[in-house]
Formats: sequence, C-alpha cells, structure tokens
Amino acid sequence: MSINLSAASFSYLLPKGRVIKAIQPTTLSIQPGEFVAVIGANGSGKSTLAKLLNGLLLPTNGEVLIDGHNTKDADNKVFARRRVGLVFQNPDNQLTATIVEDDVAFGPENLGLPPEEIRARVDRALKTVGMTEHKDEDPHNLSAGQRQKIAVAGILAMEPKYLVMDEPTSMLDPVGRRAILETLSELRQKSSIGIVYITHIIEETVEADRILVMTEGKIIANGPPREILTDESLMESASLYMTRPTDLARRLAKQGIPVSKDIITVEEVVKELCSLK
Ligand SMILES: Nc1ncnc2c1ncn2[C@@H]1O[C@H](COP(=O)(O)OP(=O)(O)O)[C@@H](O)[C@H]1O
Ligand SMILES: [Mg+2]
Repeated sequence: MSINLSAASFSYLLPKGRVIKAIQPTTLSIQPGEFVAVIGANGSGKSTLAKLLNGLLLPTNGEVLIDGHNTKDADNKVFARRRVGLVFQNPDNQLTATIVEDDVAFGPENLGLPPEEIRARVDRALKTVGMTEHKDEDPHNLSAGQRQKIAVAGILAMEPKYLVMDEPTSMLDPVGRRAILETLSELRQKSSIGIVYITHIIEETVEADRILVMTEGKIIANGPPREILTDESLMESASLYMTRPTDLARRLAKQGIPVSKDIITVEEVVKELCSLK
C-alpha cells in the first residue's frame, strides 16, 4: 500500500501550443502513516503535485499508482478520490451546506452509505477535529480556522487512506493555524493515515517525518526536517527562508558562541542558550 509516482510528469497545455512543464519526471512514494511536508517557492509545482496524487490531474508521462490502482485508468477515478482526500487553501470553496453536520455528511452521502454509517462517520470526524459542539451551527458563522476544520472533517468522513493538504493554513490566523496542526498531530497518533502537507510556512514542517523540497517542478531534496531545514545552501537555492530558531543558532555560532548549528525549534535554542557557561 502506497502512492507511487513513477517518472510522472505534468505539463499544462495552453492556447497556441504553449506548454508549461509544471512537474518534471518524478519518482516518489508516500506510505500510509507518514507525514510528508512539501515546501517550495511559488510556482514550483506543489499544487500540481497535490492534484496528481489524487488523480485530479493525470500525468502527461509516467504513472501514478494509488495502492496499486493507476490513476490513468478511468475505472479507478472514484477509487482514487475516495482513497486520497484533498484539502485546499480556502475552506469556503469546500463548504456546501448551512449546517455543519450536513456539510460533513455531504461526502459520505455521495458514497451511497447507509444512514447509520453516515451518522457514525460524521460524529467521528467532528470529534477528531474537535468540532462536535458546533455540529448544529451554520459554518458561515464560524471562524476561518473552524471552517477549515469542518472541511477537514468532511474529507475524513470519506475515510481516505491518504490526506493531501494544499496550504490549508495559509488563510488562517495563528490560532486557526495551530488548531489545524494540532488536529493533524492527533490524527497521526490515532490513525495510520498518510499525510502530504504542502505549506509555505516553514515552521509548520519541523514535526514532519520528512520534507520534500521543490523547485521548478523538481523534487531537489527529500529528507528529515533537521537535515533539510538546517541546510542553508539548499534552502537558499529553493528560495526558502530559514526559520528563526535555525537562523539564530547559525548567527550565534558564526559569532563564535558554541551553540549547535542543527537546531530547528525554539525549545532547542532555549536549551542551548541555558547550557552556556
Ligand atoms: N491551470 C493552470 N494552467 C496553466 N499553468 C498553470 C496552471 N496551474 C499552474 N500552472 C503553472 O504551473 C507551474 C506550477 O504551478 P503550481 O503547481 O500551482 O505551483 P505552486 O503550487 O508551487 O505555486 C507554474 O508555472 C504555474 O504558473
Ligand atoms: Mg499552490
């Protein structure tokens, strides 16, 4: 079981025969239970990759297999959408109903499940995202962060094996951001869902199992957060910023202060500074 790209590429075809090569031939595997973060500058191909992962876009060349099912095979379309849930930037594009629980039920209803199964799934999904107490409210009266949680619940109610999130926190305030990340961290502990988390907020990737770095449609690095986030030349070549803890540690080290250069969290900076004599 895994999502596998084998030499998969994607080009957008524009009028007058113009072609934009958004994804260069890429080979990649995503396992259930993994939390894979994807970072890269604007236009580096992150959203296109997300859509290849659930069959919303089909590779121009190469293959994408979802648990062995080729997305190019028309018979696998429904399977692909069920297996791989996609959450977008703007929750409002995903909300359809005027009552929270109806909204979460929308997906499972379309799967044609029996009512009691739908009921159970909706309750579970709302509980997972911590929104049970808002189940009778109108999503439009909730905060953006809460609406994004409802959108996540709607996807979870489909019980996908993989969750692909394309900058799900970029429209949220810090409180909403934290709430989504906490929900994901709980989901990781309680389930074996595979998560692909695309973000331009580098701080959000420190807890990932591994980070993919994209530039110009290519994955130029794939490794654990500590290796990726402390690699100054890699981050620079991908036009990405170093997080403040990492940057601070480096600057202190350059001043001759003996702190480790592979720091990635605030807690680690504090610990290092407190241990200085
Ligand atoms: N619908 C589209 N039609 C034409 N070109 C597109 C379309 N969507 C994205 N692109 C182009 O494909 C490349 C990758 O875009 P995208 O996958 O959206 O990157 P990211 O999500 O990293 O910003 C960019 O050059 C972008 O302009
Ligand atoms: Mg994008």
